[in-house]
Amino acid sequence: MQKLIIKGGNRLRGELSLQGCKNSALPIIAAALLCGEDCTLHNCPRLTDVYSASRILNCLGCRCGFSGNTVMVDSSAVTGTEIPEALMREMRSSIIFMGAMLGRMGECTVSVPGGCELGPRPIDMHLAAMRKMGVDVREGGGRILCRTSGGKAKGAKINLSFPSVGATENIILCAVTAEGETVINNAAREPEICDLCGFLRACGADISGDGGSSIVVNGRMKLHGCEYSIMPDRIAGATYLSMTAAAGGEIILKNACIPEMEPFLTVLEQTGCSIYTGGGKIYLRSSPRLRAVPDRIRTMPHPGFPTDAQAVLMSALTLADGTSIFEENIFDCRYRHTEALVKMGADIQVLGKVAVVKGVSKLSGASVEATDLRGGAAMAAAALAAEGTSEITRISHIDRGYEKFEESIRLLGGDIRRV
Ligand code: EPU
Repeated sequence: MQKLIIKGGNRLRGELSLQGCKNSALPIIAAALLCGEDCTLHNCPRLTDVYSASRILNCLGCRCGFSGNTVMVDSSAVTGTEIPEALMREMRSSIIFMGAMLGRMGECTVSVPGGCELGPRPIDMHLAAMRKMGVDVREGGGRILCRTSGGKAKGAKINLSFPSVGATENIILCAVTAEGETVINNAAREPEICDLCGFLRACGADISGDGGSSIVVNGRMKLHGCEYSIMPDRIAGATYLSMTAAAGGEIILKNACIPEMEPFLTVLEQTGCSIYTGGGKIYLRSSPRLRAVPDRIRTMPHPGFPTDAQAVLMSALTLADGTSIFEENIFDCRYRHTEALVKMGADIQVLGKVAVVKGVSKLSGASVEATDLRGGAAMAAAALAAEGTSEITRISHIDRGYEKFEESIRLLGGDIRRV
């Protein structure tokens, strides 16, 4: 099993170009199934989750080839309607293939993705929405069998009880080739939803309102292929900025999505870091000692503070002057990284959805285990700021979401290697 060895204490300095966004690449790869022609996707990050998505396309009969950060998908031939359980289990977001398969083939068999390291992750909203769209959904033995009548789902008015990102994506994917109009109320407003809709519009889909709480999709008979560039990854951006805030230094992030990162940048700025934005770049200079964030940091659906940036910001705030308070409102088990941070010397108390982080003057290197994707990145941020050497195991979690993780950190002057 591979691990990361990080020697802390180096300031980070330099320029980094942001990778393409994992959380829009995955639904966009699923969406390529709908167009039935060639699609060329640029700025696609090379990640284990992206490879899992391409394996799902392969198993459905599509071709998917990588050339650097460009992915070519040929979905003209479709030979299957079933995703084997082993492939479904490789990543939870495989569930977004459900909407795309229903849109293209009118039927599909998938698996219940089950819980994950972030806690129970039900798909009740996804299934209720599909049923509302006239899909016959049957569950049994861990499998989900979905079938439309006459090969087409029906447009419907869907009111989500919570703006779920995955459910919003699945409904859009199912609706773009459905009969009639679909309206999603209380839709997720995450930038990745807009990126998915941007791709689908480039394929000829009729979608409006994305980025707002009400999305309207008018079903089209047929979509076509296109060439599209995936947006930059705002969470990878938040990670490298948090690392620099923690370890000290100054960096420029190039190819950054500035408006989409505002909810994070507004909070980071309160730690005393100097942040300037413009021309697609974010410049950050750390402050000599970070300040605690005065207001409670509440993770919320976009445009609130992103849950995916909670762990990495927490690493930086373990070293701040004063006490910061986090409130995690999206996932039940998203504080599993705190144990590792405490092992490194942090003072963190977790009480249900609240984590109280009292700043300490130093962290010390330790052997820790990545608990999940963002938690693993948070441990790396803490290790870069700590005195001494840290070892992080179970880094397959980190590889799910960060492209060239060690190379990027080394480019900034961090002492990190994979063994
Ligand atoms: N939920 C339900 N029922 C459902 C759907 C969701 O109860 O039918 C609950 C979930 O259990 C969770 C909450 O609603 O507590 C939010 O889930 P959501 O559906 O919004 O999240 P997701 O689509 O499963 C995506 C990202 C996550 C990100 C969340 C929130 C992808 C592939 N994943 O997950 O990203 O944290 O939205 O923004 O897009 C990550 O990148 O590390 C990551 C976990």
